[in-house]
Amino acid sequence: MATAVRNSTLAFHAGHLRTNPRAGSALERVRNRTANIAILGLGHVGLPTALNFCEMGWQVLGADSSPEILEILRRGDVPFYERGLQELLTKHLGLKFHVVDDLGAAIRQATVLFICVGTPQRENGEANLSQVESVARSIASNLNDYKLVVGKSTVPAITAQWVRRTIQRYSHAHDNGAIEFVEPEFDVASSPEFLREGAALHDLLHPDRIVCGIESDVARDILQEIYKTTNAPILVTETSTAELIKHAANSFLSMKISFINMVADLCEAVGADVDKVADGIGMDPRIGPGFLKAGIGFGGYCFPKDLRAFIHLAEDYGLEFPLLREVININELRAESFLKKVRRALWVVQGKTIGVLGLAFKPGTDDTRESPSMRIVHALLEQGAILQLHDPKAIPNLRTNFPEREHEFVYCDDPYQAARRAHALLLLTDWPEYKSLDLDRIRNFMEVPVVVDGRNIFEPTSMENAGFEYYSIGR
Ligand code: UGA
Repeated sequence: MATAVRNSTLAFHAGHLRTNPRAGSALERVRNRTANIAILGLGHVGLPTALNFCEMGWQVLGADSSPEILEILRRGDVPFYERGLQELLTKHLGLKFHVVDDLGAAIRQATVLFICVGTPQRENGEANLSQVESVARSIASNLNDYKLVVGKSTVPAITAQWVRRTIQRYSHAHDNGAIEFVEPEFDVASSPEFLREGAALHDLLHPDRIVCGIESDVARDILQEIYKTTNAPILVTETSTAELIKHAANSFLSMKISFINMVADLCEAVGADVDKVADGIGMDPRIGPGFLKAGIGFGGYCFPKDLRAFIHLAEDYGLEFPLLREVININELRAESFLKKVRRALWVVQGKTIGVLGLAFKPGTDDTRESPSMRIVHALLEQGAILQLHDPKAIPNLRTNFPEREHEFVYCDDPYQAARRAHALLLLTDWPEYKSLDLDRIRNFMEVPVVVDGRNIFEPTSMENAGFEYYSIGR
């Protein structure tokens, strides 16, 4: 198994490109499409990535540590909602996509291994990399041939180098426990994923860019071969830079959102319109129009966690990042400032029936992790409101994890039911279907026609003309 021999002192990346004698035949197998790809971790990144590789013609082995996820997939169902994913699973399951119980088997049968496991946050904000380490150790004990190990999960800089170290350490121990270090044949790389939940398959098919952090020529050539059918520019860097690009991108995007949210407050104070301000500044190509939508703040599994992990990484190296702390602070105050609007509209919240449209952290997903809508829902319940909740996708999961409580909150099958006899209707997720609601019907259903729009879905004038008392953000 192991061929190259070198000193047991492990040096982190020293700027040179590595060579592996057996890597050449791996590259050949990738070029002629006989190599398999393994996706280790089948969550919101792993599963769409796996099925996208199937679409590109690869044979893909998918493994996950959760028996429930494997069971759901084996039945032919997707474990979470993502547009188009069910269709792709149905198309490829058992043909190009193989669900594998045994992580070791997936590793042994594949040449290119993508690590897509979760990197949740610890209480202090640091990324918990135990799942990454565990996969690296499994790789170490299943190195039957050259492997390219590619990190796709969002991780702090130098994780790839720790993955390399871990594989070296444990394959060494597994090999023969000898004192002399025997280097197994593999390369590590980092190719962070930039897909958005709710648009995952679109983003995989049409990426803006592909970042390949590599430390060998072969790793670069293999990744370029794999990605050559996407027309995106490929940026080749070393691994830590690639990892940092992902954290910096998510932090920058969150910063844009917190910035526009502060501007929204100022617009409200002076009577300006934040949507127009966003249009006006977004026309400057140096700023760009994206991620300037004011609202109740950002949520989801990525931005809040990645911001904290990035700050923690900086602090680990003795650097403060107060700018990003402020991005988080501003975001955390959004829910409270929205609740103030609700109180201003209703005066007394206790005992009022409130319809809530949108529970997922954004449209296109059933994910409610760190959803600002859920934060608002919990606060309103604490204040004694009676809630009628609607979301086009999130309710089936919520029914299990956050079951209905009589006289406190119910789930509704459609938005009109949520508006029935309500004293206010809150718009918390900008699902496209809410834009085309029959407003006359909504108004007729409501006890008092008050709408508080946390996503600026509607125009103030048309809502007033439609007979609503309408509140929105920064206008
Ligand atoms: C984000 C990044 O956009 C992806 O590039 C990245 O790959 C992903 O994190 C990840 O790290 O895995 P995602 O969390 O799926 O993707 O969702 P976004 O579309 O970025 O939205 C995040 C939050 O920001 C949502 O709550 C959304 O409502 C909010 N948002 C977004 C705003 O409040 N205003 C905006 O202008 C844009």
